[in-house]
Amino acid sequence: MIPSIAVNSTARRQSAFYQDILDGLRAENKHLPSKYFYDETGDKLFQQIMNSPEYYPTRCEMEIMQEQSGEMARLFTEHSPAFNLVELGPGDATKSWFLLRELQRKHAAFTYYPIDISANVISWLETKLPATLPGIRLHGLNGEYLEKMQQVKSFSPNPKIVLFMGANIGNMTIAQATQFCRQLHDNMQPGDLLLIGFDLKKHPRTILDAYNDRQGITRAFNLNLLARINRELDADFNTDLFEHYPTYDPGTGACKSYLVSLVDQVVHVAGKTVHFRENEPVYMEISQKYSLEETKNLAAQSGFVPVHTFQDRKKWFADVLWQRLP
Ligand code: AVJ
Repeated sequence: MIPSIAVNSTARRQSAFYQDILDGLRAENKHLPSKYFYDETGDKLFQQIMNSPEYYPTRCEMEIMQEQSGEMARLFTEHSPAFNLVELGPGDATKSWFLLRELQRKHAAFTYYPIDISANVISWLETKLPATLPGIRLHGLNGEYLEKMQQVKSFSPNPKIVLFMGANIGNMTIAQATQFCRQLHDNMQPGDLLLIGFDLKKHPRTILDAYNDRQGITRAFNLNLLARINRELDADFNTDLFEHYPTYDPGTGACKSYLVSLVDQVVHVAGKTVHFRENEPVYMEISQKYSLEETKNLAAQSGFVPVHTFQDRKKWFADVLWQRLP
């Protein structure tokens, strides 16, 4: 064997990405973590999904932010004269921008701490935001949400207002979301505020269509993870041999997507072999939908009390404001 290849595949096998992928592909029920969708190609595809006619959540939340940021900012500034505004997974901050602008208009004393797993996102925000929000106090943090939230405490003792928008919480099951909200609770002070974006239950066809757009962007978004594994882990997936299979169960509100192997096949990932039976599914992503009642239960079970609910005109989406209990 050529030594450099041996070194490379050893290095590959030590990465968290490799471990997570291999664990998922070797499980009894194969699965791949959706957090790995977002490489450079995945980011672009997700942008296209958000612009597709079927994918409504972004437009709904945008409407909320454009029209109700003034009210949000009022509640925030009433809550505390000086605070740390922590945003988990800000993306390009197009939605939170409206809130940031309103806070500036009200001369609120806040520092904005966007936290993202992508270093690109953070450096982009740090260079771009001051241009449209002159004078903003901004401190980007690149890393895991909870770890970085703890760090904010060491920068400033001020009360926290935490934003977790974009229905990102949907990528967790309800049990995982409960666990996660409890961890947020533990990283906040009594009285601190949390704004979470939930995609709500609605006609099941509307939901399924949003994850099965006619242009096939969501399909490409899912298949891109296989292509990413090929690119980064020296694998040989033939993406033509997998079919995008989105599902929505209106009973549970679980919107799950799968890739189905169309043939009996063997795939190599960094020198390891993985066998797929014909019609075997690989579970890719959950986008959990909630009723308002269920968001209230989640608040109660994780130590928060609902303070305000912001909704779009169609009532398809909700940004709920919770306060941390002692
Ligand atoms: C970014 C997690 C909110 O689940 O709706 C969009 C990701 N996946 N289309 C969602 C996604 C397929 C999206 N979130």
